[in-house]
Amino acid sequence: MAEYESYEYDVIVIGAGGAGLRAAIEAARCGAKTAIICKSLLGKAHTVMAEGGAAAALANADDRDGWQTHFKDTMKGGKYLNNWRMAQIHAQEAPDRIRELEQWGAVFDRTPSGLTNQRNFGGHTYPRLAHVGDSTGLEIIRTLQEKGIHSGLDVFMEYTVRHLLLDSDGNCTGCVAYDRVDGGLHAYSAKTTILATGGITRCWSVCSGSWEYTGDGHALALWAGAELIDMEFVQFHPTGMVWPPSVRGILVTEGVRGEGGVLKNSEGERFMFDNVPEMFKGDHAETEEEALEWVRQVVAGEIASVRRPPELLTRDVVAKAINKEVAEGRGSTHGGAYLDIASQRSAEEIKAKLPSMHHQFMELAGVDITKEPMEVGPTAHYVMGGVKVDAESQETTVPRLYAAGEVASGLHGANRLGGNSLSDLIVFGKRAGEHAANAASEMEQPSLDEKQVKEACDAILEPLSREDGENPGIIYEDLREMMQQKVGIIRNGSELEEALNELETYAERSEKAVPGTTKLYNSGWHQALDLKNMVDVSKACTLAALKRTESRGGHTREDFPTPDTGKWSHTTLVIWMENGEVKIREEDIEQPPAELEKLLDRSKKEEEE
Ligand code: FUM
Repeated sequence: MAEYESYEYDVIVIGAGGAGLRAAIEAARCGAKTAIICKSLLGKAHTVMAEGGAAAALANADDRDGWQTHFKDTMKGGKYLNNWRMAQIHAQEAPDRIRELEQWGAVFDRTPSGLTNQRNFGGHTYPRLAHVGDSTGLEIIRTLQEKGIHSGLDVFMEYTVRHLLLDSDGNCTGCVAYDRVDGGLHAYSAKTTILATGGITRCWSVCSGSWEYTGDGHALALWAGAELIDMEFVQFHPTGMVWPPSVRGILVTEGVRGEGGVLKNSEGERFMFDNVPEMFKGDHAETEEEALEWVRQVVAGEIASVRRPPELLTRDVVAKAINKEVAEGRGSTHGGAYLDIASQRSAEEIKAKLPSMHHQFMELAGVDITKEPMEVGPTAHYVMGGVKVDAESQETTVPRLYAAGEVASGLHGANRLGGNSLSDLIVFGKRAGEHAANAASEMEQPSLDEKQVKEACDAILEPLSREDGENPGIIYEDLREMMQQKVGIIRNGSELEEALNELETYAERSEKAVPGTTKLYNSGWHQALDLKNMVDVSKACTLAALKRTESRGGHTREDFPTPDTGKWSHTTLVIWMENGEVKIREEDIEQPPAELEKLLDRSKKEEEE
């Protein structure tokens, strides 16, 4: 039998991005013996890719803002498929979480009167994003990391969790992990467990996520019997780098457009003016002069109107507009669009507000953004879908298993507004930590089930004994390319069917992938294991995308190009696993109570858009 080390904790947090760190800090603050297990080095997380800011209705940049408008914007951006209670909690609690980060040492940019400054982002009625230049996620991670290491947490770095343990009543009782450095095996008994593993975007070949984003938490939840929702909704951020090929997909923050950057096609036209859907008319400037005047007012801190430039439409709209320009032959030299900040702001302003973008383009593409436009195009950035959770506690449908951040679902509906992820992490990370710790305080320590641990260890080691198969790296790249082509930004029924069939073949190929025999620094072995998650998570996305016969938010079907005002306007798709098969069913979404519905003020017209 494989040797393993064993541990006992009140609360185990899996993942150390913003949500995981915030959850662990809270659990420890509530008195729980807490450990955090992370696949990468502590502090290396996709949280840093939310560069432009954290949305919170602090009302510092425009005093008309408040939680009610933030709630309304979030629901409208999510095309009303959001969990209304999560959207309400998020809008109400985000300001306190930002102020708390400041107290813990986060150095946000300031208004002239010394308040936390706030910038514009797509879909937000008022300037709402608390920011630190264009490195907000990095500053938040730095702050949480520092707070975390002084909170008495145990940290297991470069460990990958492969299995969740369950008792005979179906409660989650801990997990089994391996050490990526030396292949050592580790079993954890936990009274409660929190998933905070982030997203799944490595399943697409053009993405903003780094190697960790292989859907680990989504898959762990699925395998343990939890339900996932909204998996068809994948956010393609409109602006990733497109050139050179080695950096394709790396994020270009929406903060560039928030600071006044404009999008142009190869003919020099600001094509976004032709792409304003009816539901957004009135919110958005209708002429270039109006848009530029609005930017001028924002920059001068004298905002009098909410009419925004069309570059700040929601991400789904902007990404599809760029796609259309390229498809119709008006793309940039390397197949994207031009993003121009140089003609809108001085070199000093650009370097002060967007220092990372200036550095990134100079170093990676040899482009000086104070003088030349950037080339940008859509990149898989975020999944709105994830583990179904209780809005108040973040407990999943598996008792004693919690989820927070990108791995959880509900807040963002069919499309997430930029800036709402950083606030999501800190609002719901805190809640998950608090509820998991409080629940743990009433429980006995579960004993480790030897049989389950042994099966988990055997499954982790199994790829090392394979012979005569493909290199896992080849399967990994093929799978990502297939998802990019067939389950990408624009989908259709026949390609989705093909993708589902091909995923069966990928499952077979993955089971035979040969990574060699060593346990030391064997990235092929890690990849062979990751492939299992990627195949199951890709199946969940593809199945849901095939089932939803309409276009809405982050899901576009060319064979069903408009939103459906009937069933799909109030239906979510629930995914679970039974005997190794991914299953799907429809479920009605609970509608907001009358007092919140009144705030939404939605018209039939909006739902049709
Ligand atoms: O564009 C950005 O800075 C990304 C922010 C986000 O995804 O929230």
